[in-house]
Amino acid sequence: MSAQSMETTSVTNGAGPVHGVKDDDLSPEDLSEMLAAGTKEVHEKAENTQFVKDFLRGRIRKELFKLGALALYYTYTAMEEEIERNKDHPHFAPLYFPAELHRHQALARDLEYFYGPEWQSQLSCSKATQRYVDRIHQVGREDPVLLVAHAYTRYMGDLSGGQVLKKVAQRALKLPPTGEGLEFYQFDAIHSAKAFKQLYRSRMNELELDVETKKRLVGEAVKAFQFNMEVFDELEEIGKTIQEDVLDAGMPVHGAMGGDIS
Ligand code: HEM
Repeated sequence: MSAQSMETTSVTNGAGPVHGVKDDDLSPEDLSEMLAAGTKEVHEKAENTQFVKDFLRGRIRKELFKLGALALYYTYTAMEEEIERNKDHPHFAPLYFPAELHRHQALARDLEYFYGPEWQSQLSCSKATQRYVDRIHQVGREDPVLLVAHAYTRYMGDLSGGQVLKKVAQRALKLPPTGEGLEFYQFDAIHSAKAFKQLYRSRMNELELDVETKKRLVGEAVKAFQFNMEVFDELEEIGKTIQEDVLDAGMPVHGAMGGDIS
């Protein structure tokens, strides 16, 4: 465990110990609150895209799941390249957790499992994914503070529901219980997603940002959700052209999920 993740149990900021942070310690001007409130509506939209609804029901075509992993690979490669470029930038440095969060290597291993060792020379980036990737690079080079919005949208989402999605996919696609093909969902260096999310929120709230910048960040997070939805919609369209039996081995959409799905 790195020094940074150790802090999940001990770090303090102006609001008190991270484990003790309660909703009433936060103010509506805190970036974490502004992001949560400002993306609530688009989050609901994302939850209701056909692709995501089908996924949750376990109605996943394996070829589409593989293409989804490929889209994530390009997205995280771009995001983590820009994060590395900006890791010392005062507006990103407190959110730099490569050992805990970074996903592109895990995704590369998943893709090698699905497509074989030559996967990289056989596959390419889809149009919707490319638009998302281009925006991430633009932000990283021209307006790095906005990277916070991209990191928030993906990593906080992954930490909110990864385990449930992993189980749904494992069951529907009959993937081995040893975890091959699903490394993306496995955050080995994070022992409590809940505590880590609290640490991440407190780090976001400690960034020295004026209200105007915080508002721009919320706008960029909404955009990031939209890029994700465009990728889902594109996958949905591709799915219509793929001839493959739909495996229907999902979990009940409501009830068994424990409210921590993303
Ligand atoms: C948080 C559900 C899709 C991004 C959450 C939480 C739930 C949830 C219950 C709250 C977790 C908590 O309080 O700790 C779902 C469901 C989804 C879905 C049911 C689809 C079936 C997505 C997608 C994205 C996303 C597609 C973005 C790509 C986020 C983010 C958070 C979050 C950024 C953190 C919110 C915050 O605390 O500020 N999600 N989610 N989610 N989800 Fe999702």
